[in-house]
Amino acid sequence: MLQSNPHTTSTPDSGTASGSTRIDRSDIEPINFVDLKAQQALIRDDVERRIKDVLDHGAYINGPEIGKLEKALSQWTGAEDVVLCGNGTEALEIAMMGASVGQGDAVFIPAFTYNATASAVLMVGATPVFVDVYEDTFNMDAADLEIKVEAVALKGELTPKMVVPVDLFGLPADYAAIRKVADAHDLRILADGAQAFGGRQDGRFVGNIADMTATSFFPAKSLGCYGDGGAIFTRSKEEGDVWRSIRWHGTDEARRESVRIGTNGRLDTIQAAVLLSKLSIFDQELKRRAEIAAVYDEILGEVMALPARPENCDHGWGYYSITLDDRDGVRAALQDKSVPTAIYYQQALHTMEAFKAFAPSNGLPVAEKLSERIISLPIHPYMSDDQVLYVAQSVRELVG
Ligand SMILES: Cc1ncc(COP(=O)(O)O)c(C=O)c1O
Repeated sequence: MLQSNPHTTSTPDSGTASGSTRIDRSDIEPINFVDLKAQQALIRDDVERRIKDVLDHGAYINGPEIGKLEKALSQWTGAEDVVLCGNGTEALEIAMMGASVGQGDAVFIPAFTYNATASAVLMVGATPVFVDVYEDTFNMDAADLEIKVEAVALKGELTPKMVVPVDLFGLPADYAAIRKVADAHDLRILADGAQAFGGRQDGRFVGNIADMTATSFFPAKSLGCYGDGGAIFTRSKEEGDVWRSIRWHGTDEARRESVRIGTNGRLDTIQAAVLLSKLSIFDQELKRRAEIAAVYDEILGEVMALPARPENCDHGWGYYSITLDDRDGVRAALQDKSVPTAIYYQQALHTMEAFKAFAPSNGLPVAEKLSERIISLPIHPYMSDDQVLYVAQSVRELVG
């Protein structure tokens, strides 16, 4: 069985959180941006036992762990059905194929996200239409979505078909506003929740906010396996069955005849076994991420704008991202202090070589500005209290 996560028993106390105790680099272990080794130390025995089970039964494809994990994820999120697949990109593609998105269709996506959101659209033969984002939440701007949908409808070359909001860094997009636009123009909503497993809006977890949600279990994600993995969540069992068919070459239930176009989109049984183990500590990890974010908020709040926390949302804290005027200078100084950081994203999608043919002529000013200012601080659940303080104090010293 798993041991409990020692971090969850000790919330950083508020005296320390205020930053009154100064932490020196020599007081702490080196900080990693993500620490899968520390996590593995907690679950190693359980993971080995579960992998041994797979080796014993030998069903490497579609073994019992697949159905078990689909059920567990459905229970965890409240989604009606969950279909595991090979990675988060494939999850997006399969959901689009299931909704018959293809050539001649426009799919509206934010310009400030990972490239996979755009490539999935192109891989199914549809056309990405880039939408700007809000400066505070970094998520899709619903007013700009409306403008872009109307422009496409007016031009008449493409059919507006789907919108793919991204829950960037763990924060759910503004689905109420997006839904209004989607309903008015008959668009389906597919949430890209690849960074947001564990995030919540109006009491619903990512996976059960939009009609369809894709996520990724890439190792560095909040819930990640030991390789590639992904899943799609739906409110409709029928849709889930279509996705199961698509992920297995579009075959019927007996897997004899291809009844639609499909692909090999399956998750390996061994990865499902790893995820079952990781899911058992996920609640504790989520809690710890929120504790770290609260300490960062407290120490950094006086000197900079904090990541937005809309009242109806619980952030999943896949990343703690802030914007800084001298982002690159601060980043270099943090590196000198052994504080690892990451930049997601250096470039807005519509400025990239592969996608610039789809760039709007007047650009997307907020996405472009963010790409010059954004920086993410480490927020993995295995940071010690002192490491958290050291990161926050280091940033505050440089920015304050
Ligand atoms: C927003 C977003 N969408 C899609 C993906 C694709 O997931 P995967 O790498 O599992 O294909 C990622 C992965 O980083 C992502 O961050």
